[in-house]
Amino acid sequence: MMNDLVLDIPSTYLKIEEKTSQVGFSMSSDKFIGSLLKNLSASKPTGNFLEIGTGTGLALAWVVDGMDTNSKIISIDNDPKLLEVAVEAFQGDNRVQLVCADGEQWLEQYNGEKFDLIFADSWPGKYCAVDKTLNLLKPGGFYVIDDMLPQAGWPDGHQQKAEALIDYLENREDLHLTKINCSTGIIIATKI
Ligand SMILES: C[S@@+](CC[C@H](N)C(=O)[O-])C[C@H]1O[C@@H](n2cnc3c(N)ncnc32)[C@H](O)[C@@H]1O
Repeated sequence: MMNDLVLDIPSTYLKIEEKTSQVGFSMSSDKFIGSLLKNLSASKPTGNFLEIGTGTGLALAWVVDGMDTNSKIISIDNDPKLLEVAVEAFQGDNRVQLVCADGEQWLEQYNGEKFDLIFADSWPGKYCAVDKTLNLLKPGGFYVIDDMLPQAGWPDGHQQKAEALIDYLENREDLHLTKINCSTGIIIATKI
């Protein structure tokens, strides 16, 4: 049924969800984007993925659920308490590398293999270092962001920042853009 939007919730997601409420984290992405991320990661066998803004690992659980055994992901957050939840949930999965670092500094220093999908879910990668982030995409790679529709709790000036980011992405000649007007507002850009 089309009303049953989200299917096959990963078991890791359910474990992390419980811990997430215990640590009082409320900035997680929803299940709709999770399910979408799973499809995108599944579309890139032997993929190399990046998430900026792990939180407790809820969106990460979806990406990992779509990955094949030869794929790998680096996920970065600067909050060690949140990362602790993700570290416990993904221990033993060698495909997942969790990094506690400032996203902007990490992006500046990274000079490894480019990525097939980048889920930019923190300030770095969206509102700063966006150029560096987009330059880390392989041709055919996906750049994914959410929280792009106006929200009641946004601080003054944030809507203008979101609009400026959309404008910037729309005007880049090396991206195909799709705006998905559901969930919190999702943008998928494919690197040409
Ligand atoms: C929207 S939440 C991420 C939610 C997560 N992707 C999920 O779906 O559960 C944003 C995350 O970015 C992290 N963050 C904020 N500023 C950061 C920075 N400068 N570098 C790295 N992580 C940062 C926060 O600690 C927070 O966990």
